[in-house]
Amino acid sequence: VKSIAVLTSGGDSQGMNAAVRAVVRSALYYGLEVYGVQRGYQGLINDDLRQMDLRSVGDIIQRGGTILQTARCKEFMTPEGQERGAQVLRNRGIDGLVVIGGDGSYQGANKLSKLGIKTMGLPGTIDNDIPFTDFTIGFDTAVSIVVDAINKLRDTMTSHERSSVVEVMGRHCGDIALYAGLASGAETILVPEIPFNLDEVSKRMQDNFKHGKRHSIILVAEGAGKGEDVARHITDCCGIEPRVTVLGHIQRGGAPTHNDRVLASQLGDFAVRQLMEGESAKSCGIIRGELVGTDIDKVVNTKKPFNMEMYNLALRLSQ
Ligand code: F6P
Repeated sequence: VKSIAVLTSGGDSQGMNAAVRAVVRSALYYGLEVYGVQRGYQGLINDDLRQMDLRSVGDIIQRGGTILQTARCKEFMTPEGQERGAQVLRNRGIDGLVVIGGDGSYQGANKLSKLGIKTMGLPGTIDNDIPFTDFTIGFDTAVSIVVDAINKLRDTMTSHERSSVVEVMGRHCGDIALYAGLASGAETILVPEIPFNLDEVSKRMQDNFKHGKRHSIILVAEGAGKGEDVARHITDCCGIEPRVTVLGHIQRGGAPTHNDRVLASQLGDFAVRQLMEGESAKSCGIIRGELVGTDIDKVVNTKKPFNMEMYNLALRLSQ
């Protein structure tokens, strides 16, 4: 591999810039040429690439978003779109591509590898829904944002002796709700992986208020239901009227935490080294402190196991 490109794709996440920086600077360090692709796979199809140097990635490690911008590209889901993307890379003599994104972005990288381009996937998503890595880039920051919001909500909820339903992101994965719930002492955590009964949730809230609780936080991952619906059910069931906060895209912005910057730097450098060793179609991850490359095929066909132990811990501590 002599020349590589890097792109960000799908929903953005904090730390993507740190990952781009790591890919560019490591590639240059090892003597490779490196190109940035603008707007994900759409930019690839449109040949929207620019050569990167050390300064192109200066002053970005601390920024949220992605300087390369991102897109969800329908055209690239077709074999014609994929061939066009591969051809753009071949025409430019680029033989390796680092894709930073989530599940959908990985599928694209897998297709390109079958067309002869060496690819590496970096897990860039706040959802933490990519298996074979303990954490994805952006997750730590998103959880911190949720915890910070709940701290603020607690102040006003306690003053008014109210309860609060907080809806967080996570279409298929409850990890943001789980980690933020445990870290902020939420009373109830509703996630798509675990069935729940809202009548029981309401009853528990009522009992807790009777036994001296002054406020309560119910955290719901968007994949488990809408915050408004959860609150309505509780009101119908027991008369308590929780206030609803939907945190939405706030969770995807802002400066990445040091954990996300470190993770992005490690994985970005690892991806470049993997390409130089001739590896392709791998997802770069970190498991118990160790850098690992796992076949993208395996990654996209495996559901990340839910951390039941942590869920039970949160339950035990939330009485
Ligand atoms: O990045 C994943 C995610 O944050 C999901 O949890 C959420 O449902 C989705 O992105 C929303 O993204 P968008 O509004 O960009 O489609």
